[in-house]
Amino acid sequence: MNRYSTILGIESSCDDTSASIWKEGKILANETACQPVHEAWGGVVPELASRAHQSHIIPVIQSALNKAQIRLEDLDAIACTQGPGLMGSLMVGWNTAKGLSLALNKPLIGVHHLQAHVSALYLEHEVRFPLLTLLVSGGHTQLLLITEGLNMEIIGQSQDDAAGEAFDKAAKLLGLGYPGGPHVDRWAGSGNPQAFEFPDSQTPDLDFSFSGIKTSLLYFLRKQQEQDPQFMESRMADICASYQFQVVSSLLKRVNKAIRLHKPASLGLVGGVSANSELRRRFSELATSEGLEVYIPSFGYCTDNAAMIAQAGAMLLEKGEQTPLSALPFAR
Ligand code: KG4
Ligand code: ZN
Repeated sequence: MNRYSTILGIESSCDDTSASIWKEGKILANETACQPVHEAWGGVVPELASRAHQSHIIPVIQSALNKAQIRLEDLDAIACTQGPGLMGSLMVGWNTAKGLSLALNKPLIGVHHLQAHVSALYLEHEVRFPLLTLLVSGGHTQLLLITEGLNMEIIGQSQDDAAGEAFDKAAKLLGLGYPGGPHVDRWAGSGNPQAFEFPDSQTPDLDFSFSGIKTSLLYFLRKQQEQDPQFMESRMADICASYQFQVVSSLLKRVNKAIRLHKPASLGLVGGVSANSELRRRFSELATSEGLEVYIPSFGYCTDNAAMIAQAGAMLLEKGEQTPLSALPFAR
């Protein structure tokens, strides 16, 4: 059993402030405060994000402790996202974690945000290795080959936009809200994915590219709107369904290729975009058709959350790692 039986996880890398209590492998609380302030701007405004984290961080931690019925003195360690992310956002969580570590005289463990997304898989599953994982978030799109725990190699990644950006930028062009992924997903549910055709990118090996599809949507909308100014409103569901179909197809094409090349025992899907209903469905279908086990976190563990930070922290502490209080957060 882990020497550190009760861990507080803190996440504040972008626009969600989250705190979680991990106890002996179980999540007792996972509390998150979102920041609707960014919706009006169509994207995260870093200065507003840091300010909102400042107001949310203590209430969110208190709420997690209350829900788990754990006192600060019961904690054995503090795990916190150290990076990558927005510097001003990271600093709020990181300095709070340092303060708690200092005051309680308990170890601090800095967690890499992407390793944490992968750790979300270990919260609910006994995983079979080697594990091929597709990590799709607002800032990253990566194919990871994981030999065990947090030992992983990046075998493919996006050369430009992340899959989440492809959704967010499309939603912006379509006049939908931010973050765009959930909006596109919802509209796509009642549309025809074959109504329109969007191109896949040409990339070498297992790499991805999503800047082309976003530009093709821009030109497509311009042309159609010239002929029919009501086009976007009247065909919103079909546009979203067709666009989403191609983004998901581009992702799965590389996963398929990676399966042939690396012959994994199982497949994992993590990061905010893993909340996408079509991606979840087709990813699972692919795994089943290949005879592979598949792990996809519950919705609450897909987008940014502190439970995955606490889980990654537990795994690092178990390996004997700790982070000195002098360590700084890193943006990239
Ligand atoms: O992992 P995450 O919460 O934050 C980052 O670390 O970036 O991912 C956020 C991304 C956003 O781009 C958002 O639009 C996308 O995840 N997302 C979705 C869905 N839910 C969230 N994309 C497509 N379909 C969804 N249902
Ligand atoms: Zn994330």
